[in-house]
Amino acid sequence: MSFSMTLRELRKKRHLTLRDLANRMRIDHAYLSRLETGSVPPSDRVLRQLARLFGVPAEELGLAAGKLPQDVAHIFYEHPKEAASLLRERFAVYNTTFMPNDRSENGHGQQSEPVFETSRGRLYQCDCLDLLPTIPSESVDMIFADPPFNLRKNYGRLVDDDLAEEKYLQWSYQWLEELSRILKPGGSLFVYNLPKWNVQYGSFLSRTLTFRHWIAINIKTTMPIPGRLYPAHYSLLYFTKGKPGVFNRPRVPIPTCRHCGGDIKDYGGHRKWLNPEGLNLTDVWDDIPPVRHQKYKSRSANELSVKLLQRVLEISTEKDDLVFDPFGGGGTTFYAAELMNRRWIGCEIEDCQPIIERLTGDLFTNGKLAEIAAR
Ligand SMILES: C[S@@+](CC[C@H](N)C(=O)[O-])C[C@H]1O[C@@H](n2cnc3c(N)ncnc32)[C@H](O)[C@@H]1O
Repeated sequence: MSFSMTLRELRKKRHLTLRDLANRMRIDHAYLSRLETGSVPPSDRVLRQLARLFGVPAEELGLAAGKLPQDVAHIFYEHPKEAASLLRERFAVYNTTFMPNDRSENGHGQQSEPVFETSRGRLYQCDCLDLLPTIPSESVDMIFADPPFNLRKNYGRLVDDDLAEEKYLQWSYQWLEELSRILKPGGSLFVYNLPKWNVQYGSFLSRTLTFRHWIAINIKTTMPIPGRLYPAHYSLLYFTKGKPGVFNRPRVPIPTCRHCGGDIKDYGGHRKWLNPEGLNLTDVWDDIPPVRHQKYKSRSANELSVKLLQRVLEISTEKDDLVFDPFGGGGTTFYAAELMNRRWIGCEIEDCQPIIERLTGDLFTNGKLAEIAAR
């Protein structure tokens, strides 16, 4: 994590405003603010002061600011081979080969600086169509995409969620094509949308990827549509690039009546043969609310439940796999990836602050699982 992000995190954990901290350090408020945005590098004196104040090693802060201590630098110069192999071995998990290229493979796309980083992931504030061309082909293990549904929602100034049907599909095909390109062989792509759009996406994706499932995610509360059947599910498309590299089949608890505790279904005399660890998961998910509970939402629009992302990650990834999400929203994918020790990369075109706050908030650092359990 860069020095400016480390500083912001330390300050927020202590509930210090920039001004509080400047006063404590007896330095100029504007200078501290420039330090925190990364526009000026910290002096050694400032690093020592911050280290004392926050109780962290000055060396660690210095490294985050790109300052290599003399003795460490000396070891690197004297023993480059051992140093390189040691670093590769120890930090393979964080290897940066997955990070976007400076230039895209096809000459398009703009590389920008991430607005936020953790040791496992990077967040970009940009249009996914600018970021995607900078990502190397076949470099990502799993993709989760939850685009705007073209339902006239207000996501912000930069998103038009009221496009003509043809235009919406044309736009979607652009990012779907890029997602197929960046997916590793054996990797998985999940796309969450209304059945109306996913039926078209599915046909488009079938040209290059292998169809696995149309997962129906039960919606508890919707409005009836005149002249149509009552819509009761969202669609989650699941494709892989060839044979899946990872497929874990989760088990779910045997459903019981919440009043009497008895089984809801009759297993026709075969109850005793059921696996005590639970039933095989089917392609109809009615045990997970698709949308995050209002009480926990950090962004006004359409934030998915963490449980949904955890399930998708459990099915299709292993620890340290790389996950990509082009439509960050409230950061549910990145949050679940952090919880489950997956690497991640993603973008959001509008304000990224809700994502940053979610990934640096007290709930995350002190009580990760408490929030999950609460949903
Ligand atoms: C349905 S929300 C995603 C919610 C997210 N899955 C979550 O659980 O928090 C779609 C998001 O895509 C963003 N978005 C729309 N167009 C985009 C684009 N071209 N590039 C990147 N993000 C975009 C919107 O601002 C919105 O936050």
